[in-house]
Amino acid sequence: MIKDSSIESDILSLVRAFGLSRMEAIREVKILFAHAIGLGQLDLIKEPSLMSDPLHIEKYKKAFQDRINGKPIAYILGEKEFYGLSFKVNEHVLIPRPETELLVDVAIEKIQSHNLKRVLDLGTGSGAISISVAINAPGVDVVAADISKNALKVAEANVRSLCPGASISFVESNWFSKISGTFDLILANPPYIAADDSHLNSPELRYEPIEALVSGPEGLDAISEILEQGQSFLNEGGWLFFEHGYDQLGRCQDLLAGQGFMSLFNAVDLSGNPRISGGRIGAVTRTAYGC
Ligand SMILES: C[S@@+](CC[C@H](N)C(=O)[O-])C[C@H]1O[C@@H](n2cnc3c(N)ncnc32)[C@H](O)[C@@H]1O
Repeated sequence: MIKDSSIESDILSLVRAFGLSRMEAIREVKILFAHAIGLGQLDLIKEPSLMSDPLHIEKYKKAFQDRINGKPIAYILGEKEFYGLSFKVNEHVLIPRPETELLVDVAIEKIQSHNLKRVLDLGTGSGAISISVAINAPGVDVVAADISKNALKVAEANVRSLCPGASISFVESNWFSKISGTFDLILANPPYIAADDSHLNSPELRYEPIEALVSGPEGLDAISEILEQGQSFLNEGGWLFFEHGYDQLGRCQDLLAGQGFMSLFNAVDLSGNPRISGGRIGAVTRTAYGC
């Protein structure tokens, strides 16, 4: 049997290590218990102290130790919920973030309102964007690309478990280097953190692949490269849009305009931060909207 005092001490350790509220720490402990017992995240057990199987207790202790060392819960569980779907994740892929759901919302809206068919997802990682788009906008053909072979293995496994019938193909490619053909919509959630950003020292980011996070001194190298090459891979009237940092809106809109994109737009996340910028080859207007 695991002692109440030991559970209390784990809760306090999480509060101190990560600045969590007590409720958040209790929730994490319950998630780790559920994981140790082999239950799903939603089947949180009410009385962890009743756990008696030594194997479960040992598994819980190992998971707790990983957590207190900074390993994100999603890597410990091997899964993360995104757009209502459970994605397999491991340390080769970025853990999909809630704010990226906005990119999927805007993509689905554009696909439906402009009848877009061919979609390219650059830097697919776990496949979260490609798969969420393919499931919610049936009929699209998606090409999902990443420079990381290991990330593509995770994305392929997610397609097999979440949408085996969807038209999603994978390409190992340094941005556009191995991409052929043209698209109605190019999407990207590229790395956009500046190399000296202090957030990179946070315990959780330490576990994520650096190539998924950092992109040059201002965080804009990948976005600039994608925008420089993007137009040659777009069909007439095609759209290109991407996620960026909350403080990168002005520079991203300038980069888009500098590369000749028109009908520029941006979208704001639920916290009020500008998160998505994009444009197309078409009428010149600037619009801003929240989703
Ligand atoms: C911020 S993560 C996004 C992952 C996923 N799309 C998501 O939203 O959760 C950026 C992804 O870009 C990939 N990447 C980094 N540099 C790249 C490059 N030069 N060419 C293609 N993909 C690249 C990384 O491997 C990583 O999977």
